[in-house]
Parts: sequence; C-alpha cells; structure tokens
Amino acid sequence: MEFVHKSVLLEEVIEGLAIKPEGIYVDGTVGGAGHSSEIAKRLKGKGRLYCFDQDPEALAAAEKRLESYKERVTLIRANFENAVGILKERGETGVDGILLDLGVSSYQLDNGERGFSYRSDAPLDMRMDPEAGKSAGDIVNSAEEGELFRILRDYGEERFAGKIARSIVEARKKQPIKTTFELNAIIKSAIPAKMRQDKHPSKRSFQALRIACNRELEVLEASLEPMIGFLNEGGRFCVISFHSLEDRIVKSTFRREEHPCTCPADFPKCVCGKQPKGFCVNRKAIVAGDAELEENERAHSAKLRIFEKKTSDGGEQ
Ligand SMILES: C[S@@+](CC[C@H](N)C(=O)[O-])C[C@H]1O[C@@H](n2cnc3c(N)ncnc32)[C@H](O)[C@@H]1O
Repeated sequence: MEFVHKSVLLEEVIEGLAIKPEGIYVDGTVGGAGHSSEIAKRLKGKGRLYCFDQDPEALAAAEKRLESYKERVTLIRANFENAVGILKERGETGVDGILLDLGVSSYQLDNGERGFSYRSDAPLDMRMDPEAGKSAGDIVNSAEEGELFRILRDYGEERFAGKIARSIVEARKKQPIKTTFELNAIIKSAIPAKMRQDKHPSKRSFQALRIACNRELEVLEASLEPMIGFLNEGGRFCVISFHSLEDRIVKSTFRREEHPCTCPADFPKCVCGKQPKGFCVNRKAIVAGDAELEENERAHSAKLRIFEKKTSDGGEQ
C-alpha cells in the first residue's frame, strides 16, 4: 500500500520554525516526511535533520521520500519521548528547532490491517509501534470495567462511557473481543440510536482506545519540557495537535514555561527564582485557512502552537 498523507499546516510550520540553513532540526513524528522534506530542502553545510517515528512503515516511507537529502538526514525508529536522550548520546548538545505533528497519519488510518479504523474489519491492535506495549485488544479484554470507563470518558469524552464499558465486560465473558467489527457491534448496542453524538457510534471509543494503548497524552506531557530545555537560544518548537486533550497539554506547558513564577500575586517581587524559558510566538493557536480546509479533512481539527527559547539577554532574536 502506498504511503499517502497530506501534511497539515505545512507553510505555517516552515515559517514557524524560522529555519537556519546550518541549524540542527528534529522532526519527532516524521510520518510520510511531508514536513521533513520541506525542512531538509532548506538546510545546507552543517545543517542536519533528525527524524523520529515509532512506526517502522512510516520510517520506510520517510526514507524513500528523503532519499535526495540523505547526507543531512538521520532516521531513527524511536518514541519521541526518548528523542532528547538519544540525541545527547549521539553527541548533540542542543537543537535549533523541533516539530511534533501529533497522532496518527492518514496512512495508518487507511491501512485497515492495523486496527486503527472502525471502518475496516481487522484485529484490534492500534499500536503505532507494533512491538511495544499493550494493543487495543489487550486493553479491551483485560482492563477492569472502571478503567475502561475512565479511558472512554477521559480520552474519548464519550457520554455513554459507563454503558459501553459494561457492554464490553459482558461481551468478553462469552468470548474474547478480537476484531474492530466485533467491538463496533458492542459499542453500537450500548448507545441508544437517537442519542448518538457522532456520525459513527465508535468514533469516540476508538479515539480513546488509541490514545490509551499508545500512551499518547502521557508521552506528550513527559516530552514537552525536556524538548524546550534542549532548544538552543532562539530555537523554535512547533506542535500540531488534533484534539482538545492534546492542545490543553501543549497550551498549559508553553504558558508555564513562559510564566513559571509561582510566587503569590501580591508579592512585591519574585522570590521563587523560576525564570521564563522563552515565549509563545502567537497568543492564539494557528489554524488552517479556507483553502487548506477545503482540500484536507484532517486540517479541520489541527492547532499549531509555537514556542521560542529565549536568548541569554532575555530578548527575541
Ligand atoms: C500525523 S503523522 C506525521 C505526518 C508528517 N508530519 C508528514 O507531513 O508526513 C504522525 C506520525 O507520528 C508518529 N508518532 C506519533 N506519536 C509518536 C511518538 N510518540 N513517537 C514517535 N512517533 C510517533 C506516527 O507513527 C505517525 O507516523
């Protein structure tokens, strides 16, 4: 199957990274290398791009797409939560820009066999790294009812989380739930037809299970601060999120790094000593314009936030 994925907010990301031709850049979610090929194209001399992805199929597609820039690109199969550690082991002391384009690619969703989509019948897997952690099937068949409820409510914002969790537990007493279509039938039976929130009754539950089995929010939460710490002065960090749970984490981390002082508001001056690490380049998240919205369905929920690491004199570059 050909790797098809239309990059979201491409121009905005390239402008946001303010690429220095001889700088060091990181794409933590290379996917089909749509963003990476535009970054690589702008590098020269000592300029270098490190591309991470935890999905071996994505990395293979990225390798092909980046073939003509291979002397300045390094592809690494790893979770981006380990990127800073891996780069330090390779002798890097800081980078000039980082991109995270979160979630799954269209290729992963469209490739029915991976179990990401409720539209194709496949084993319930949903892992971006097919060798790491628990699959969606493991969670559905072994998590306690309370845990399933929490996953569906918190990661899917599913109104019928309780009913669906109960139906899953009842169904698996008879036999393990193995496929996406078996899970679809269970979810459908748990939601009253006239109360369905979305076009497809499984939409929220599948999103929730995907987030849980890939530990998406945990990984994001753990990665942002170390990545900001690893930026060189004036370095830029671009993060594209696709749902409110992710965006909330990005927004609050960037704000905290911009205003870290924890002193009570009525203190005449700061005594906690926490210094800002930089600033948010835009007050509001950047969203896709009309032309992009018309031609890319995924762009509708995309939000880009950009952080710039402060320089030693504290100012903008
Ligand atoms: C939205 S796609 C990126 C598309 C890419 N920017 C492009 O323009 O072609 C997200 C990619 O990030 C990968 N990914 C998601 N979370 C990851 C993580 N925590 N660590 C490494 N890769 C991750 C997925 O496997 C997927 O290939």
